[in-house]
Amino acid sequence: LAIENGSFQWSAPSNIALVKYWGKKDNQIPANPSVSFTLNHCKTITKLAFAKKENDGTFSFDLLFEGQPKEDFKPKILKFFQRIESYCPYLKDFHFTIDTENTFPHSSGIASSASGMAALAMNIMSLEKVLNPNISEDYFNQKASFLARLGSGSACRSVKGEVVVWGKHKEIDGSSDLFGVEFPWPVHPDFKNYQDTILLVDKGEKQVSSTVGHDLMHGHPFAEQRFLQAHHNLSAIKGVLENGYLESFIKIVESEALTLHAMMMTSMPYFILMKPNTLEIINKIWKFRSETQIPLCFTLDAGANVHVLYPANVKENVLQFIQDELVGYCQNGQYICDEIGKGAVKC
Ligand code: PMV
Repeated sequence: LAIENGSFQWSAPSNIALVKYWGKKDNQIPANPSVSFTLNHCKTITKLAFAKKENDGTFSFDLLFEGQPKEDFKPKILKFFQRIESYCPYLKDFHFTIDTENTFPHSSGIASSASGMAALAMNIMSLEKVLNPNISEDYFNQKASFLARLGSGSACRSVKGEVVVWGKHKEIDGSSDLFGVEFPWPVHPDFKNYQDTILLVDKGEKQVSSTVGHDLMHGHPFAEQRFLQAHHNLSAIKGVLENGYLESFIKIVESEALTLHAMMMTSMPYFILMKPNTLEIINKIWKFRSETQIPLCFTLDAGANVHVLYPANVKENVLQFIQDELVGYCQNGQYICDEIGKGAVKC
């Protein structure tokens, strides 16, 4: 049976790390293990159309973003194809049209690399399954995560599962540097439906890309300590997620966020991605938490936006607090309400 043409469509979510990945070795191998919550609403939806072509030794694809040709994304995709070519030798047999869009506002400062690379990797695995119908679901998902990792490290945590670990850790069965795995134990009910409200503090282009940031961990004076700390924090958060210790969760998650930014501030060259409003928000969260005992906390990615994490049963109180006290620090008053999700979906 010769497959001539067809198309697939997948959506893949973003994710938010609790223990952060910052620093990598060659071939997108993380310097330390990380764990994240998969998000539900912040997604990339990507359609991949394929048409058989002669294998002339080149990759051939068109790229559409929200229906319009997008030339400036093409080098990133080409690099991705080159990186995965040896694992997907069929890519040069097809011309692709990649049609992609995000559910979150364009240039909101929310990185779409994790959701985007995961969605593309799922589509490529759908093509592989057409070419080789015998592959199992586990193989499909594991290889999708493996490929997504080669596109953008954290993307490998956006394939499947609510809580995903990436990076070899001695206490996490099946964990690997090569792909993300679902947290292998039941998560305590307190962490079910956990909420993430993303406060959009700064929507501008980051001054320093995460690629440059990871690189600056080479020769960083605190790198070795940091990598050890991530291992310890992952051990600790494992018990926390199983047993539902919200206080410990808060300590680990906030410390991880601040440590990530401390690494940026102490690299050479040094840089700061937080904005004054990031700090205003953090202080307000601390004050609110100590006054109300409501177990909300913050985390940060490689940017100025603040992710506010909290259990679903305090949602009303937290959203009221955000409305009353935090929207003023958001650009155009913008924030996005998200929650834990389950991973990529074929649509
Ligand atoms: O996937 P990258 O290379 O864009 O790195 C992302 C790193 C952080 O978002 C800062 C942390 C993480 O683990 O997601």
